[in-house]
Amino acid sequence: MTAPTRIALVGCGAIGTSVLELLRGDAALKVVAVVVPADGIAAARPIAQRLAPDAQPGTAVPAEGIDLVVETAGHAAIEQHVLPALARGTPCVVASVGALSAPGFAEKLEAAAVAGGTQVQLIPGAIGAIDALAAARIGGLDSVRYTGRKPPHAWKGTPAEQGRDLDALSSETVIFEGSAREAALLYPKNANVAATVSLAGLGLDRTLVRLIADPATAENVHTVEADGAFGSFELTMRNKPLAANPKTSALTVYSAVRALRNRVAALAI
Ligand SMILES: NC(=O)c1ccc[n+]([C@@H]2O[C@H](COP(=O)([O-])OP(=O)(O)OC[C@H]3O[C@@H](n4cnc5c(N)ncnc54)[C@H](O)[C@@H]3O)[C@@H](O)[C@H]2O)c1
Repeated sequence: MTAPTRIALVGCGAIGTSVLELLRGDAALKVVAVVVPADGIAAARPIAQRLAPDAQPGTAVPAEGIDLVVETAGHAAIEQHVLPALARGTPCVVASVGALSAPGFAEKLEAAAVAGGTQVQLIPGAIGAIDALAAARIGGLDSVRYTGRKPPHAWKGTPAEQGRDLDALSSETVIFEGSAREAALLYPKNANVAATVSLAGLGLDRTLVRLIADPATAENVHTVEADGAFGSFELTMRNKPLAANPKTSALTVYSAVRALRNRVAALAI
């Protein structure tokens, strides 16, 4: 039997914990380190003990004995842990794709992977058809539009509140229309899907984003429409949230686990 792939999991929140649950007992993928900030160690320890007894919680990715780093933690964690791991030559899987909307950050990740002679893999996460979009790009894309529709309360604490009372909306209201780059600046907490669609397709400046507050929906609905030499597609996703973090889709966890399993599977899809 081949030795299992030794994983350092960065972040042990809603996604990280669910990933540990799904990888528990996996013969080919073994989480051997859980990396969190110093003030997160106490919370991570019992989770690691229960779900990955071989994993030591710590504040840094061990310099030795790690075959793969998996990030489920956010922009700062990519800076602190993913960039150095890539530069050391350790491949990394990244879930916080929205972080790549920051100016120059995608280039920085790429440069670290080039320096280490390795690869950083961005997971599709909460959105589908990233395979089709990235394949269609090879033939040439003409337009890509992403629409994010959420109930009004989901936009509280964002610029959508400026000049309007979200609680009083009686019909669907477009709260933002512009490029994915502008959307990431104004709505950073909603940046993951728009960034993923942009990176797979036409980039942050040419991907159109529409954000809608809709009192008639209780779900988070993502729609992607793309046109190009390949033809066209429209995809609509109604994702269920993770109980541990209603802002995160359960599909993001499955997407991370799929990416990991595909790295070791004899037949990958
Ligand atoms: N690609 C997608 O579709 C998608 C979807 C949902 C969430 N995400 C991203 O995944 C990430 C995790 O989401 P979540 O719901 O699990 O969040 P969460 O808040 O439940 O958990 C975050 C975890 O990261 C840890 N953390 C924070 N800063 C860190 C650092 N500098 N170093 C190491 N660990 C650190 C926290 O202690 C916590 O354990 C977020 O960045 C989110 O934007 C991506």
